[in-house]
Amino acid sequence: MTTVTDDRSAPATAMTSLSATGVTVRFGGLVALADVSIDVPPGTIIGLVGPNGAGKSTLFGVLSGLLRPASGRVFIGGNDVTNVNPQSRARLGLARTFQQPELFMGLSVRDHLVLGHRVHYERRRFWSDLVNFRAIFPPSTFETEKVDGLLDLLGLTRIANTPVAVLPLGLSRLVEVGRALATCPTVLLLDEPLSGLDYRATENLTAVFERAVANSDDGLSLLMVEHDVASVLSLSSNIFVLDFGQLIAQGTPQEIRANAAVRAAYLGDDAAVSEGHGTPAASTATTATATATATATATAPPPTPS
Ligand SMILES: Nc1ncnc2c1ncn2[C@@H]1O[C@H](COP(=O)(O)OP(=O)(O)OP(=O)(O)O)[C@@H](O)[C@H]1O
Ligand SMILES: [Mg+2]
Repeated sequence: MTTVTDDRSAPATAMTSLSATGVTVRFGGLVALADVSIDVPPGTIIGLVGPNGAGKSTLFGVLSGLLRPASGRVFIGGNDVTNVNPQSRARLGLARTFQQPELFMGLSVRDHLVLGHRVHYERRRFWSDLVNFRAIFPPSTFETEKVDGLLDLLGLTRIANTPVAVLPLGLSRLVEVGRALATCPTVLLLDEPLSGLDYRATENLTAVFERAVANSDDGLSLLMVEHDVASVLSLSSNIFVLDFGQLIAQGTPQEIRANAAVRAAYLGDDAAVSEGHGTPAASTATTATATATATATATAPPPTPS
């Protein structure tokens, strides 16, 4: 069931496509997320980064409805979805991709986009297609036009009828992103979309992300978890940084680059903190917890650089 929040309970969420406030997740004694809040405005690309084990996937689990937080709330377009299941969140406009593309090997590129489109526009047909892969209902003119437009945006027109089984990883990722976009989401969660891609495939996919957001009539936003920090900094208008379950920084790429806590978390760069570069007074990107966390990080074993 979806409850629409009133202005008193969620004043900041009305203007966001997706937001989470005060999310805490515990696995036994481990605090995987501690009072984390993020927001994704319409029509933006937002980055979510952090070293291994920082809590990024846990936050994605909470946002997509696979994990229930111990406390905190999640909103899609102002609707409180904290207790709403993943399927209902998808109907409210949330889509996601997984690190390993999960494609139907017997189907073509075009078939995947048609199926994605039917999830949104013709749910009954989607289910009948799923149980009978070999006889997917012929697409309507409307469907064909939509799918052709998407193939063009993805740069996949030339291989529309190619079975996905023969595609390299970079093209498989494009198909997975395309299938998610075909469901007409308002927010797409991307879990490490660039992992394993070479330079050219990375350039190709990031250009698709920018085109998809720029061309969207629905104010599409992307929230991207990614270890390729350089790509995140060049793509995103705002970036959230997690470390040991804490949100240690948020801000523009320039602010994140200059942030001492972020440098400490990624590089064990305690010199950045002691030099005073990017301390709370000097950096607009620093959250209240940043100094404490940076200090703690500097004394902890260095995390795996990503
Ligand atoms: N199901 C689980 N049960 C117990 N602990 C878990 C579980 N899922 C995650 N954790 C722990 O929670 C912490 C955060 O994990 P999470 O997978 O969210 O990190 P991450 O930022 O996605 O890391 P990576 O970059 O390596 O994917 C880690 O210490 C992890 O071991
Ligand atoms: Mg992860």
